[in-house]
Amino acid sequence: MKIMKKKSTTCYTNHPRVKDNHNPSPNLHHSRLLFFFSAFLCFFIIHFPRNTNPLSIPMAAALSTVVGSQPAIKVIALCGSLRQNSYNRGLIRAATEIAKESIDGLHIEFIDISPLPMLNTDLEVDGTYPPVVEAFRRKILEADSYLFASPEYNYSITAPLKNAIDWGSRPPNVWRDKAAAIVSAGGGSGGLRSQYHLRQVGVFLDLHFINKPEFFLNAFQTPPKFGSNGDLIDAEVRERLKALLLALRAFSLRLKGTNPPVDC
Ligand SMILES: Cc1cc2nc3c(=O)[nH]c(=O)nc-3n(C[C@H](O)[C@H](O)[C@H](O)COP(=O)(O)O)c2cc1C
Repeated sequence: MKIMKKKSTTCYTNHPRVKDNHNPSPNLHHSRLLFFFSAFLCFFIIHFPRNTNPLSIPMAAALSTVVGSQPAIKVIALCGSLRQNSYNRGLIRAATEIAKESIDGLHIEFIDISPLPMLNTDLEVDGTYPPVVEAFRRKILEADSYLFASPEYNYSITAPLKNAIDWGSRPPNVWRDKAAAIVSAGGGSGGLRSQYHLRQVGVFLDLHFINKPEFFLNAFQTPPKFGSNGDLIDAEVRERLKALLLALRAFSLRLKGTNPPVDC
């Protein structure tokens, strides 16, 4: 027994790994430092709530710098209803406020489509359009993306919105290769069928709609979602609207990437 112990001791202490243990290499030293640093980080992450974590504050600042360095996205918002107290127009007003208050780099401008004449190609002269149509087309061309508030009329999009879309589609098609999102407020289905018709129209225009989140709103449910002037008054719906705007912003940035559009 004694002999065995002695043997094993001798053998053990001569082993190169044991020598390393007594005289740690710089690599081992670094691993230990790394281990203690990671444990320290975990402690902070676990023990402080998200907003008060002293480590998350510089991290959030770094992230906001990344967001801040991205290009701003110009969104043109169009409403298919011309009604003064329109709920759909109310959705655009709310979206504009949300973007201004809480989404960096997303600017929404509403364009009134009511002054546009009914499309008639006789109004086109040598490839030019009536001044009000030219101004509209320029705004559409300069935008990065679009927000359509599209109420449902007889299971489809409204005539004024289709008219505006058709003016923009005249050569050259100014909608081409841009991101878009749709919101709608209406009867039982919340305008769902108009949204799917609009997506179909967008195929020919080379518009790229975000798939999710979808935003349909039954405007006539209780408790009321809108005030008498069409203002959105429901906090939960505002959050849904914000989620859609964030998705539109992210998708617009992707489309503004480095690859140019391909003609086909
Ligand atoms: C001509 C017309 C057709 C309509 N057709 C539908 C329809 O097919 N489905 C539906 O859910 N609501 C329908 N509605 C109801 C509107 O979608 C609803 O009143 C909506 O609030 C209108 O949008 P606004 O509040 O922005 O004006 C129709 C309204 C009008 C005036």
